[in-house]
Order: sequence, then C-alpha cells, then structure tokens
Amino acid sequence: MVKFCMLKVKNSIFSKEILESLSKKKKIIPSKFHYDYQGSKYFEKITQTKEYYISRIEKSILEKISKKINFIFGKKLTFVEFGSGSIEKIGILINKNVKNYVPLDISFDFIKKSSKKLLKSFPNLKIIPKYCDYIKYIKLPKNISNTKIGFFLGSSIGNFYNGEEKKFLKNAKKTLGKNNFLFVGTDLIKNVKILEKAYNDKKKFTEKFNLNLLNVINKNFKIKVKLKDFYYICSYNDKKKCMENFIVSKKNLLFKIKNKKIHFKVNEKIQTEISNKFTILKFKRIIKATGWKLKKYWIDSKKYYAVFLLES
Ligand SMILES: C[S@@+](CC[C@H](N)C(=O)[O-])C[C@H]1O[C@@H](n2cnc3c(N)ncnc32)[C@H](O)[C@@H]1O
Repeated sequence: MVKFCMLKVKNSIFSKEILESLSKKKKIIPSKFHYDYQGSKYFEKITQTKEYYISRIEKSILEKISKKINFIFGKKLTFVEFGSGSIEKIGILINKNVKNYVPLDISFDFIKKSSKKLLKSFPNLKIIPKYCDYIKYIKLPKNISNTKIGFFLGSSIGNFYNGEEKKFLKNAKKTLGKNNFLFVGTDLIKNVKILEKAYNDKKKFTEKFNLNLLNVINKNFKIKVKLKDFYYICSYNDKKKCMENFIVSKKNLLFKIKNKKIHFKVNEKIQTEISNKFTILKFKRIIKATGWKLKKYWIDSKKYYAVFLLES
C-alpha cells in the first residue's frame, strides 16, 4: 500500500529563499532547488554514469550491510529515508522484517512515482512518502511505532553550506527519536582528478542538472532566463575540501522578479552546489558534536566512500 502524506506543496517559501539567494552579491543557491521532477531525472542519470563512483560504491557497501541487517536490528522495522530520490538503494536492504517505509523528499512527484515502483517489488510493504525539507524536524506519520532506521544516502550529507550538516543531524535525531538508528553515506577526500571527473561526466548530465536550476527559477518566477546564456563549471576547493559547482553567465543580464532587479554580470559565477568531502576522523567529530553515537562504519577497499551507522 502507498499512502501519500501532504499532497499540497507550498511554493511560496521556496520562491522567497531562491529570491534571497539571487539578490545577494555572491549568489549561492542551496542544492535543494535543483530537484523539480526534471532535476530528479537528471540526477538519476548522473548516478548511472561511469564517472559517478558514489552510487556504485555505496550500493556495494549496502549489499554487504544487507547480509547483516537482521543481526543488527530486531523485527518490525520502519525505514525512514531522507532525500530518497529514485528509491533505488533502499531495495537492497528491505527484507521481511521491514514493515513500513517512509521516503522523505522535496521532489514529491518523483518520489510518488518511485514509491509505486518499489511497491511492485515489495507488495506487503506500507509506503508513506512525505514531502519535506529535511533540514528541519519532521513529524513522522503515526502508527509506525516500531524501531526506526533512518537513511541519508548518496553523499547528500556533503551538500550543506556553512556546517549545516550538524543542523540536519540534530534534527534527524529528533525526527527519529531515542533508541533509533541512522545510516549516513559519506564521500571521502580523494584524488582531485577522480572528483573532478565525477562532477563533469562525458554525457553532460551534471551540466544539464546544474543548468536546470534556471528552469526551476523560470517556472517559479515566470521569467525567461535562457539556459544558453550560461555555462557550467566545477572545481575542487582544496582549502575547504569540497567540490564546487557553478553556472557562469556569458553576458550581462537583468531580470525583474517580484519588483526586484536581479543582475547577472558577464562572467559572474553562481554557485549551484557544494559537495563536501570528509575524512573518517572529521565525520566522527561531527557525529559526536550532534549527540549521535557511532555504532559502526563500513568503507570500500579504495577508501573512496564510507557508510556510518549512528545510534540515537
Ligand atoms: C543527492 S540526491 C540523493 C538521492 C538518493 N538518496 C541517492 O542516494 O541516489 C538528493 C535527494 O534529496 C532530495 N533533497 C535535496 N534537498 C532536500 C531537502 N532540503 N529536503 C528534502 N529533500 C531534499 C532531492 O530531491 C534528491 O532526491
């Protein structure tokens, strides 16, 4: 059964946040704005590219975990996935002990579709997709009182600016409640060439994904910014230990949004995404600072990626 929560999505808060980011001298757009339906489709394509090692390695770690999951947890489990997207990875871990699955995502039409697909593979699973902004505390649906196991996969923990991953982890702890668990997929610092390739795939899905932000802006504000007036670049910031993605304006452009003048200067860089890279030690410190306990972590043989299991 798929039971939908909060079918009505409020766009007004969204528009206010994008407009604030666009009005600043240094334009930095939170990555959540990428994910309209088309953005989610592009992201799914990125995960299938040869260069994007993240999904491949994370899945291989989850395969290992799936063999042990019944030993780690009891029966009657509720899986809660933050930023579930295509809901592809969770299927690796679902078994007969999992009674409920709550995918949480800002791209609601996309997770509605993905939920229906998942139900075909697990017809006895109760799926309750919910629209949310996962950085906030989320009131979970009622009647899922079993052990809750949260998932935050796809290295989304790296997509926060200004240390906001701590805010996410603290709120996720509140959302899941005491004596529950959270798996966090974390991308590790590695050779810059591998990183830069991963965010610059040959099929140009990452470029399309980043430029799609302009479609989201056009849709939200009923304006007509041309995608061809911008190009995509990305680079590794060694000081901050993160990949940074930008779209760059090819010309001077001026738009009016809600009576506010928005300028894009020629060669102006608009940051469209950040992907922070961690060390095991750094992530352990974050876990401690947010009140979680580290239960275990898994890492691949190349030490590219780690999945942490936290206990509240
Ligand atoms: C990097 S993708 C990861 C998707 C999937 N978990 C995976 O591992 O492939 C991030 C997902 O989180 C969702 N998302 C991004 N920011 C969000 C936010 N602030 N609140 C809720 N969902 C968000 C996006 O719609 C997308 O599905």
